[in-house]
Amino acid sequence: MSEKGYAVVTGASRGLGKAFAEELAKCGFNLVLISTNDQILAQCQSIKNQYHVDCQYIIADLTNHDSLLKVAEELNEKYEVFFLVNNAGLGGSQRFAEADIAYYEKILDLNVRATAVLTKLLINNLLRQQKSYVLNVASMAALSPIGYKLAYPASKAFVYSFSLSLREEFRSTPLSVSVVCPGAMATSPSITARIEQQGFFGRLTLVAPEKVARKAVRQTLKGRKEILVNPLSVIFSKLTPNDIKTPLLTRIVRRETEKV
Ligand SMILES: NC(=O)c1ccc[n+]([C@@H]2O[C@H](COP(=O)([O-])OP(=O)(O)OC[C@H]3O[C@@H](n4cnc5c(N)ncnc54)[C@H](OP(=O)(O)O)[C@@H]3O)[C@@H](O)[C@H]2O)c1
Repeated sequence: MSEKGYAVVTGASRGLGKAFAEELAKCGFNLVLISTNDQILAQCQSIKNQYHVDCQYIIADLTNHDSLLKVAEELNEKYEVFFLVNNAGLGGSQRFAEADIAYYEKILDLNVRATAVLTKLLINNLLRQQKSYVLNVASMAALSPIGYKLAYPASKAFVYSFSLSLREEFRSTPLSVSVVCPGAMATSPSITARIEQQGFFGRLTLVAPEKVARKAVRQTLKGRKEILVNPLSVIFSKLTPNDIKTPLLTRIVRRETEKV
């Protein structure tokens, strides 16, 4: 890859995004990390010291449309982007009748709008590289509707479909598009608590973010279309019809909404 090329990771200060940043740095790629969190500065410094790559950062809230436009503008002005990881994403489990509208708006703004708009705004930058990659983070939830999660599986189904459509449209260009569908990852205390409440099933699909990042980056670089990480989740998701999956997963997730 060209020495001046940069890999961009959204949601890079924690969880899977942090693991992606480390994995890409291990590959020797220069990075631009996007985060809402000012701790990203120290993280960038540590990546530079450890992996001897350039690491820059942009602090921005990607749910804000103007910030999203500014991020893309800065990326296009300063960097040759050959790898975009649309990792930032939010979810949760709430009863539809009781949840705030803001909760759904945030999920849709980040998971759907930020993913699609950032990719669109960077597309010409990506296409002028000798070889480039977009890696979108969906979820196993993309493959099944789930009550009490509603907007989350729907948003990840968007990411999944958007990725495969984009891949097909750019098939004969230097750009390769991949989508990864991780199972549960214990990336934060609230997500860990949610997984524990899902009981045996949650633990069954559990996978470490570092493992997801390693496999997803390697397979993206090989041009793989769809990256599924946990074999048990793959068997369940691909072979079980939604008529069975949706009621089963909804019952499991309902426990999360009954916690208090
Ligand atoms: N954890 C799981 O079980 C699981 C399973 C399947 C798929 N996923 C997907 O994997 C991705 C990463 O999940 P995670 O569990 O590592 O994350 P997380 O702990 O839930 O944190 C949310 C992520 O989104 C970013 N983010 C939150 N609000 C943002 C905003 N307003 N603007 C920009 N970025 C924002 C955060 O980055 P900063 O803090 O750096 O801003 C962070 O990377 C998400 O797309 C998620 O849907 C997660």
